[in-house]
Formats: sequence, C-alpha cells, structure tokens
Amino acid sequence: MAGVSVQAFRRQGRRYGAGLVCSEMVSCAGLEHRNERTLGYLRVARDEHPLAIQIFGSEPSTMAEAARMVTGAGADIVDINFGCPVRKVTKTGAGATLLEDPGRAAAIVEAVSSAVDAPVSVKMRRGLEDGSRACLALGPRLVDAGAASLTLHPRSARQMYTGEADHGVTAELVELVDVPVIASGDITSHRRAESVLGATGAAAVMVGRGAQGNPWALREIVNGERAEPSREEVAAELILFIRETTRELGERKAAGFLKKFYGWYLGHGRFPKQFKQEVVQLDSTEDVVTRLFAAAPEAAPLVERLEAELPDAADEILLDSMPISIYGGG
Ligand SMILES: Cc1cc2nc3c(=O)[nH]c(=O)nc-3n(C[C@H](O)[C@H](O)[C@H](O)COP(=O)(O)O)c2cc1C
Repeated sequence: MAGVSVQAFRRQGRRYGAGLVCSEMVSCAGLEHRNERTLGYLRVARDEHPLAIQIFGSEPSTMAEAARMVTGAGADIVDINFGCPVRKVTKTGAGATLLEDPGRAAAIVEAVSSAVDAPVSVKMRRGLEDGSRACLALGPRLVDAGAASLTLHPRSARQMYTGEADHGVTAELVELVDVPVIASGDITSHRRAESVLGATGAAAVMVGRGAQGNPWALREIVNGERAEPSREEVAAELILFIRETTRELGERKAAGFLKKFYGWYLGHGRFPKQFKQEVVQLDSTEDVVTRLFAAAPEAAPLVERLEAELPDAADEILLDSMPISIYGGG
C-alpha cells in the first residue's frame, strides 16, 4: 500500500503471521532515472522474506529493467500494478488504465517475466467503470503472457474504496485461470477470510486496510484467535514502528508520515480520544515516544524485547553504487 507499506509495516506483518508481504508501489520511471527516493523503496531486510516488490509503469522495456533491479535488491516476487486508480498514475497509461489496454498489459507481463527468474504476479481491479468485467477478459491473457498468479481487488477504479468488493467476480476469475488467484478487498476477520476463500476458490487472501495500526487483526485472520492487545502492547508496537520508520525515512519525513498511524494504533477504544489528539499534535517522533512511555510505562521491556529480535544492520544489500541499507536514512 502506497504511503503505508514501509519496511516496518512489512516486518510487523510477517511477525503477526502474514505469509507474504509487499512493498509500496515503485515507479519504473523513478528506478530508470535512479531517483534517490524511489531507490529508497528497495531496502529489503532479512526478516521480510518472502517479499514481493510492486512496480508500476506503462513501457514494457522500462518495466523489464525495473524488474531486474527489484530482484537484484532482493525481491522474491515481482508484482505488477494494474489497479492503481489515482489520476497521477492513470494519466501516464499505468495502473488501472492497463485493464482496458490489454495488448500493452500483456506486453508488459511478457517483458517482465522474460527479464527475471522470479515469479511475476499481477494485481488488478475489476475494471475502470462500475460493473466492469475487464479483469475477466484480461486475466487469462496475462497468464498466457507469463503471470504466475493474479490478485484481484474487485472494485472498479471509479469506486476507489467505496461500496463493497464484489468477490463474485473473484470466483469467476478463479474458474478462468489455472494459476493461484488471491482475493483482495474487505478482509478484516478470520470469518470473512474463510467465507471469501470458500465462496471463490481463491488460493489466498490479501489484507490491506485491516492491518493498518492493527497487526493483531492479522493474527486473528490467520488463526481465528481473537485477543485484544493490552495498552502496553499497543504502545510497544507503535514505538517500534516509529523508531524503525524514522530510521528508514529520516526524522523530517517520518514525523509527517507517521501521523495517520497514531490514529490507527491509538483508536479502537484503546486510548482515550483526547490522548490520540494530543499525540497527533506533537512535532517530533521522539516527543511521541516519550508521551507513549509516560502513558504506558510497562511498554519498556516489550520494546526492548522487540528491538532485540530485529536482525542487525550487517544484513545490508548493495545495489550498484547506491548503498541500500535496512537502516539507511532519508
Ligand atoms: C492507502 C492505500 C494505498 C494502496 N496502495 C496500493 C498499491 O500501491 N498497490 C496496490 O496494488 N494496491 C494498493 N492499494 C489497494 C490495496 O492493496 C487493496 O487492494 C485494497 O485496499 C482493498 O483491500 P482492503 O479492503 O483489505 O484494504 C492501496 C490501498 C490503500 C487504502
């Protein structure tokens, strides 16, 4: 998820039972131009694997080169984005636009899957307009072009995140292709996951918004064990998340980026509303950490334990001349 799936999010997802995690979407044009910020998305830590890195773009050859770079950085799977509905992306012919440009979409999948040994997966929406069935015509073509699995978020691009994901379309796609299909959309509980898996025949479910500030939901989705986290556990996970994200993005960027996470973690009735509002107003991440320790002093040994379990900075991956470190800042 763009703006969400930073490395700390992915590592946390793995700790809470996710079988596979995925990066934010990475621009193939940004990689081509060795844009420093784009290259920053390619930091891969040892405890993330298996990891998919998602790329987006509209030129087959540039996408192929991007795929080589992301597997060079350590991706186990290259995922291609044919679902992003945001105008900044669709106006360049990338993202969801490709759902209705099947020749180009297939050429991209073919170029990418010929360029790398890693499996290539594709993430789609159902189509551009409400009720569209474009994904059903496109899916089999993408498999013929080399896609090893397909993920479907069965909303239209126009819908953005409104309405409900129509997993009836997911079930139809499963019937049409002989590769694993992953169901994405509105999976927030074990019960819902079981019901979507049962009704669609999908091989797996993907969890997006349900895991934002709520890794405990992942555990429940995986094994059905519902356990509300204590305040100390919430504070400890958030403190670790803040520290890791600040290392990854640098203080200036992390301070703004993290604000939405404060609401996600401290909501769900876990902390008083007033506390949440107070934390969001704080400027520096260190002030937030101090405030969280003050509100939940017993979180300290939990944070210490979580930090001790992280792999150390020696697991550094070098990408050409650009050092991509799990602890690299900025
Ligand atoms: C903030 C945000 C960012 C997202 N970014 C991406 C992205 O970069 N690539 C992608 O394939 N899907 C992206 N999605 C879509 C999700 O992967 C998922 O398909 C969608 O949110 C439905 O699943 P959910 O109900 O579990 O959230 C994003 C969704 C959200 C809310």
